[in-house]
Amino acid sequence: MKVEEWIAELADVERELSVRLANAQDVSQVEDVRVWALGRKAGRVTSLMRRLRDLAPEDRPRAGDAVNSAKVRIERALDGPIVGSGNRQPTLPAIDVTLPGRRPPRGSLHPLTQVRRRIEEIFVGLGFRIEQGPEIEDEHHNFEALNTPADHPARDMQDTFYLSGHFLLRTQTSPVQIRLMETSRPPIRAIMPGRVFRRDSDATHSPMFHQVEGLLVDSGVTMAHLKGALMSFLTAFFGEGTRARFRPSFFPFTEPSAEVDIACVLCMGAGCRVCKGSGWLEVLGCGMVDPEVFRAVGYDPESVTGYAFGMGIERLTMLRYAIDDMRLLFENDHRFLEQF
Ligand code: DAH
Repeated sequence: MKVEEWIAELADVERELSVRLANAQDVSQVEDVRVWALGRKAGRVTSLMRRLRDLAPEDRPRAGDAVNSAKVRIERALDGPIVGSGNRQPTLPAIDVTLPGRRPPRGSLHPLTQVRRRIEEIFVGLGFRIEQGPEIEDEHHNFEALNTPADHPARDMQDTFYLSGHFLLRTQTSPVQIRLMETSRPPIRAIMPGRVFRRDSDATHSPMFHQVEGLLVDSGVTMAHLKGALMSFLTAFFGEGTRARFRPSFFPFTEPSAEVDIACVLCMGAGCRVCKGSGWLEVLGCGMVDPEVFRAVGYDPESVTGYAFGMGIERLTMLRYAIDDMRLLFENDHRFLEQF
């Protein structure tokens, strides 16, 4: 075959293509033109390309160039707007705007974050500020200044993650009380949320968990103020009519100390498996700041008084939502998290 004939045929194909395209009325007719020109089996351009080998070898590059640039033009024409005789819109499949939509899955705050924010909101409402301290602490702030000397059982290697030197992962948020008093003067009214770490792991203990510490220092502060603030908190958090009791206890950094129990959220005080038959659930520790703690930060225990408290966010979350295994809070199983 002569290259002139081959090229003339290519020109015919292009001419016919523009006629066919001009007559195409919709997308499917444009598709028919595409198949007519470029179809893999019987497309006109495809068959011309197949017949390149019938040309003399020295003519093939010219023909090849011609067909390649023709293909670019053809594809551009096929992808262009439809200019069919009626100049009609392409007939796309109709969209049924009344069909219900598919909602994209939407995240939400982790229950622990929700509870922490709720606790913060309640105490901010009572006039407390939010303060923070480091997770890597030294023995002085985590223990000594909190009246917990070196021979105290809480300092046992079994409880504390020690780092090198005198550093450790804080076992409680109480050291933030010390840092706050070291850097400011009374009156102080703050809560201190944060992560704490202990060598402990089972259904009700996690090696990392969260606490919220509270500290109020001023003159003339009494246990009645402590009780009033905590009852306001518990009522706001667990609901109107929440019953609570203050039970004498011991903490090295408070004197006197108390633990607060609320009537069991499951049996309402009758006694069940969760409250181990007692009808009460412990929710936090508290007390009047020990004079030794004031001395450690250079405050005069004769002129300032204060109260402190500490609560576990996991524990409050479990009680609030009746969750019986703490590990659920850390596994991040969507089926669990979606319920909040
Ligand atoms: N730090 C204590 C703990 O981790 C909780 C606590 C109890 C904090 C009494 C206080 C307090 O501030 O007064 O178990």
